[in-house]
Amino acid sequence: MDHRDHVDLIRAGVAGAGTAWADLGSGDGAFTLALAELLGPAGTIHSIDRDANALERQARAMRDAFPGIAVVPVVGDFRRPLVVPPLDGVVMANSLHFQREPGAVLRLVRGYLRDGGRLVLVEYDTDHGNHWVPFPLSYRTWTAVATLAGFRETRKLASVPSRFLGSIYSAVSVR
Ligand SMILES: C[S@@+](CC[C@H](N)C(=O)[O-])C[C@H]1O[C@@H](n2cnc3c(N)ncnc32)[C@H](O)[C@@H]1O
Repeated sequence: MDHRDHVDLIRAGVAGAGTAWADLGSGDGAFTLALAELLGPAGTIHSIDRDANALERQARAMRDAFPGIAVVPVVGDFRRPLVVPPLDGVVMANSLHFQREPGAVLRLVRGYLRDGGRLVLVEYDTDHGNHWVPFPLSYRTWTAVATLAGFRETRKLASVPSRFLGSIYSAVSVR
């Protein structure tokens, strides 16, 4: 996948939702960069990862590609409460699949969102994990998990084939 694929995966979930977003488990920033392109200069992105080195690499890439976008890097663990302002949206791309039981993390995420705020998930479309992707959630499973965590209107946005684990989908849910 390249930058265009990342943008296309989340575009419909981000459009029209407001400008305050967080990327949880943002890593090297593939989807932080995509968010930056979609939000434009009005956007603020709270970029959270427990890997400080990845956040530094990401900050360099952001400065090169989108110098005008406000990114707030936070070295932190999204399993614990984070200090963020009320958010219009949260992206979790390839980061929820490290949770055997995602409910507690999703309750925290829901609490960061304003009413009507959006959660955009990007995940492998399978329920069968492996060493690198231990607990992926297929779209079918995600619809049930998101509903249980108090989200509504979950819908699939896009899907791309992946040599690893078949395909990757994006989905949006509303608080
Ligand atoms: C597979 S990478 C995905 C990075 C990026 N979102 C993407 O899709 O390219 C997973 C990232 O989630 C981060 N991560 C996993 N569990 C985390 C946690 N509990 N708190 C914060 N970051 C976490 C890892 O450090 C890693 O950078």
